[in-house]
Amino acid sequence: MQKPKVSSATRERLLRSARKVMKNAYAPFSHFKVGAAILTSKGQVFAGCNVENSSYGMTNCAERTAIFSAIAKDGPELEIRAVAVVAAGEKDHGVPCAPCGACRQVIYEFGPRAVVFYKGAKGPKQSLITDLLPEGFRLK
Ligand code: THU
Repeated sequence: MQKPKVSSATRERLLRSARKVMKNAYAPFSHFKVGAAILTSKGQVFAGCNVENSSYGMTNCAERTAIFSAIAKDGPELEIRAVAVVAAGEKDHGVPCAPCGACRQVIYEFGPRAVVFYKGAKGPKQSLITDLLPEGFRLK
């Protein structure tokens, strides 16, 4: 399948937005801060960070925070065109972080053709959500 066109300027804009919101992460347990930004088909950008909890399972990832804030603001009629994810450990910035399995499914729900920018084990990567999540689940 052809890669959807997202300009390098747009990619950089999303990455900048993800880096900025990453600073707001609440990650006292993992010390792993994550920032994510999504681009909608209308050209809007929404950002989110991870929010951990003493009851670990209640943690919300950055990607889902970004998507849920977009929906909270403008409703569920959005299409996600692109997602950028950045992460930092306790001492090191720009560490590898691809979206977790749960977030892949949530990205797919609102962006079945989305492209995801993230840092892989060997450096910056760009993948279609359908490559990260083959056979994503859909009810409709
Ligand atoms: N995390 C995210 O926010 N996004 C991901 O794609 C991977 C993991 C967060 C959850 C938790 O707060 C921390 O990273 C360590 O798992």
